[in-house]
Amino acid sequence: MSFTIVEPAPARLNRSELAVPGSNYRFIEKAADSAADVIFLDLEDAVAPDDKAQARRNIVKALNEIDFGKRVVSLRINGLDTHYMYRDVVEVIEQGGERLDLIMIPKVGTGADVYAVDMLVTQVEDAVGREKRIGFELIIETALGMANIDEIAAASARNESLHFGVADYAASTRARTTAIGGPNPLYGVLTDAPEGASGSGGARDFHWGDMWHYAIARMVVAARANGLRPVDGPFGDIRDAEGYTAQANRAAVLGCEGKWAIHPSQIELANRLFSPSEAEVGKAQRIIEAMAQAKKEGKGAVTLDGRLIDIASIRQAEVLVDKARQIAA
Ligand code: GLV
Ligand code: MG
Repeated sequence: MSFTIVEPAPARLNRSELAVPGSNYRFIEKAADSAADVIFLDLEDAVAPDDKAQARRNIVKALNEIDFGKRVVSLRINGLDTHYMYRDVVEVIEQGGERLDLIMIPKVGTGADVYAVDMLVTQVEDAVGREKRIGFELIIETALGMANIDEIAAASARNESLHFGVADYAASTRARTTAIGGPNPLYGVLTDAPEGASGSGGARDFHWGDMWHYAIARMVVAARANGLRPVDGPFGDIRDAEGYTAQANRAAVLGCEGKWAIHPSQIELANRLFSPSEAEVGKAQRIIEAMAQAKKEGKGAVTLDGRLIDIASIRQAEVLVDKARQIAA
């Protein structure tokens, strides 16, 4: 390991992150009864400009009156380039009591953006004598944010998670898509013609690629290097559970902790897909046991089910076993 120690953010389950428009009080009430690990109450893109003030009032009322149980509650504020943002922070912290856990900052472009919100939040927390410190969730959803992702991830001790905002990211990078997440038929590779079929029109295969691979893999690295949770963002086609599943599995395999649910039907999917399966946990436990036995015998590496495992395998296995423990707690 490096001599530099990476401090992990507070451990929270973040498999499903439910987006709820602050303008709809009924939806907030329903979210509080849902199985979501994290609920973010939105003041940004799901709320029309004329509804911003009412949405703030709804959220303040909800934070004071609704029992959110053990769910983590977050507030998505408006961007730093709007005149709504300061009131989002000031009014909700001043009037919302202690229940809010996190603030989600959209369209973060630089570390200074995070610093600015940190300063404002600190002032309001101090002014009201808040006991619990609010953590930050940061949405990486612009080319600028992606270019500065390492400095953003390190910009505040409040930082807890990075999120991939695929819709705004597509707009910012001028990607040729109007879908929210998922693959694109234009993004693929054509295989060579099979041997001997060259020039004869022999069947060439076309494989769809994952146009979001770089962004998600990049975010995972920046997040983990700073002890933060990487979380995949929205999937717009709410009728397509298979598409959601494929996207969530890709994100989970790369190291993401969870994915947004922009419709309640996506919550259970996210919770299941970001929980290691019994088979995975069983295999991980067998690796740990086999390596404990290897240690007793003074060996650094052994074979299990015909595959080589070594001390790094223990660390891989512990990731899965720790996650299963966290879910069971
Ligand atoms: C989320 O905010 C997104 O833009 O995808
Ligand atoms: Mg966005």
